[in-house]
Amino acid sequence: MKTFLITGASGAMGSAAVRKLAGEGHTVWMACRNLQKGEMIRRQILRDYPEATLYLKALDLSSFDSVKSFASELKEEGVKLDGLFNNAGTMNRYFTKSRNGIETTWQVNFLSPCLLTRLLLPILSSDAHVDNMVSLSAHYARLTKNFPLSDEKGFTQLGGYAQSKLALLLYTLELSRRVPQYVNMSDPWIVNTPIIHLDRWFDPLADLFFRPVCYSPEKGVRPALRALFSDVRGKYFVGNSIRDYEPKYSKRYDLQDVFAQVETFLMTIAPLEAL
Ligand SMILES: NC(=O)c1ccc[n+]([C@@H]2O[C@H](COP(=O)([O-])OP(=O)(O)OC[C@H]3O[C@@H](n4cnc5c(N)ncnc54)[C@H](OP(=O)(O)O)[C@@H]3O)[C@@H](O)[C@H]2O)c1
Repeated sequence: MKTFLITGASGAMGSAAVRKLAGEGHTVWMACRNLQKGEMIRRQILRDYPEATLYLKALDLSSFDSVKSFASELKEEGVKLDGLFNNAGTMNRYFTKSRNGIETTWQVNFLSPCLLTRLLLPILSSDAHVDNMVSLSAHYARLTKNFPLSDEKGFTQLGGYAQSKLALLLYTLELSRRVPQYVNMSDPWIVNTPIIHLDRWFDPLADLFFRPVCYSPEKGVRPALRALFSDVRGKYFVGNSIRDYEPKYSKRYDLQDVFAQVETFLMTIAPLEAL
């Protein structure tokens, strides 16, 4: 049996992943920004699987300090991981800056998962699996030269979200070439979860007509769960397929340069060994 860490474990797809893995007998570390909500989910799952081993730990991806202390505590506790699922995500309606002065969606969806992964590499077994949750929206985004973005001008809810997922996709492609672990990404398609509530006038209409045709969280998280057990690298899991987007994106972006920019930034946040 394996040990997994799941971020956003109190969310719709995060909790579905915890439930599935716990039901199969794996140990799961649930990283949640809201411990009360996380504990409620943990208890619900334990009611169905009393033998499950589920640990809960606070992680707020909008704070680099939280990411750093989360990773150091796991290391101090001697935790060893076989899998990391960077699932947590947000899609902020308005431009807001985190306490680190960075646009929040960008930090939560992209910079913090990269930082977390980098800090946890030493406790991930060499054949561990890492899956980063991206999105269909990434394919419609473009990254501009001025990233990491912290500029209110031109910010849009969907645009900022899509850019954060595209950046994560590009970083994942390059990281997968540099570490021994199996690093991949997954796209759940369009799923009936809280994140698709856009804080707009048409939300009630979408709830009525759109949500019923979306995937369930259990179905949406399937590609991620497959990625957490597949010995491939740098691949994009969606539906039942495993796609190779490296040729498309390496034509459009200098993946090494994107990676280097991100790494240079992350190294201002925490001392990291160069990859
Ligand atoms: N639903 C879709 O159609 C869809 C499509 C493509 C990709 N995705 C991606 O799938 C992932 C899971 O989302 P979901 O659809 O399951 O929606 P969700 O239920 O809203 O889950 C999002 C999770 O992220 C957590 N989170 C948000 N901000 C955080 C922060 N600052 N620090 C730590 N955790 C934070 C949330 O915490 P709380 O539980 O405290 O709210 C929640 O657990 C996200 O990365 C999302 O971008 C979703």
